Amino acid sequence: MEPILKLRNLKVVFPTNYGVIRAVESVDLDIGDRECVALVGESGCGKSVTSQSVMRLIESPPALTQVDAIEFNGRDIKDYTPKQMQELRGKEMSMIFQDAMTSLNPVMTVGNQIDEMYMRHQGDSKKEAREKTVKALELIGLPEPRTRANSFPHQLSGGMRQRVLLAMAFACMPKLIIADEPTTALDVTIQAQVLKTLRGMQRGCGTSLLLVTHDLSVVASIADTVYVMYSGKIVEKAPVKDLFNSPQHPYTVGLMAAVPRLTDKKKTFTQIPGTVPHPARKPSGCYFHPRCEYATDKCRKEMPPLMGQGGGREVRCYYPLTAGGNM
Ligand SMILES: Nc1ncnc2c1ncn2[C@@H]1O[C@H](COP(=O)(O)OP(=O)(O)OP(=O)(O)O)[C@@H](O)[C@H]1O
Ligand SMILES: [Mg+2]
Repeated sequence: MEPILKLRNLKVVFPTNYGVIRAVESVDLDIGDRECVALVGESGCGKSVTSQSVMRLIESPPALTQVDAIEFNGRDIKDYTPKQMQELRGKEMSMIFQDAMTSLNPVMTVGNQIDEMYMRHQGDSKKEAREKTVKALELIGLPEPRTRANSFPHQLSGGMRQRVLLAMAFACMPKLIIADEPTTALDVTIQAQVLKTLRGMQRGCGTSLLLVTHDLSVVASIADTVYVMYSGKIVEKAPVKDLFNSPQHPYTVGLMAAVPRLTDKKKTFTQIPGTVPHPARKPSGCYFHPRCEYATDKCRKEMPPLMGQGGGREVRCYYPLTAGGNM
């Protein structure tokens, strides 16, 4: 199966007053047809910069972006003009951000905002567009959709606003949706409902999804494949079940141990020792070595390559963990 998205060797650098920040270092990413790929990692590891680069939303300059290929739906869009990208966005790929209040226009009804998507990208008349909008609002679970289409964003709850963003993102049946922390701003119970709606719509519309999150419980409930990022690099890639059953990178193990489990009566959860390296002062060798209990001299000197482990798994570690323990 040909992937919908093939990102090759993405590098993004920000020159700043306190040094050069290598935000993304040689990232490859594949997203298959109808696949949900999750990109996870701690704050600042480069998830948003990576996902926005796919949509060519990182302004260069000030950033310096290099990429070998952004193959999307069979063509390379890395050299597309801003106008070509504008045509693509919303129609073939769209994005859902964390904060609906800043993504929606506060002085326009939600109905009118969704209508515009259909009018702009599908050439619908206002009347045709409104019919589709009402259907879309019904699909995302807005009660009395025809009346509620006349609501302004501030008249809806946070969860409903986020659902409106889903309706807008799916409006033109894009091939790929990128959702950057789509439920982080919501209460936990609402999060689960919105995620369920997102997953349902993704399946129903046959869309591929790149889900950016730092929340592993979100990943477990919705992703097919997971990429774990650390300090600008992919450190592990695996089908979701395999990742949760047998994480291979010590960092992934640490991330999982940091999630409190409901089954754990003592509610103990461990923290990964140390902190993420400053992006302008990354350590030598493997970036994770200062925090890794298994690090050797080799890890301190040489950056390990991403190594295939079979079964679609890859890990950037000289001593990947197995179910039986390290090495
Ligand atoms: N415009 C910018 N100028 C300078 N540095 C930037 C800029 N945008 C991002 N960065 C830096 O690039 C790195 C990656 O940032 P990014 O926003 O991708 O992290 P993230 O993984 O999405 O984090 P979070 O989980 O907090 O959203 C960070 O060190 C960040 O400070
Ligand atoms: Mg981010």
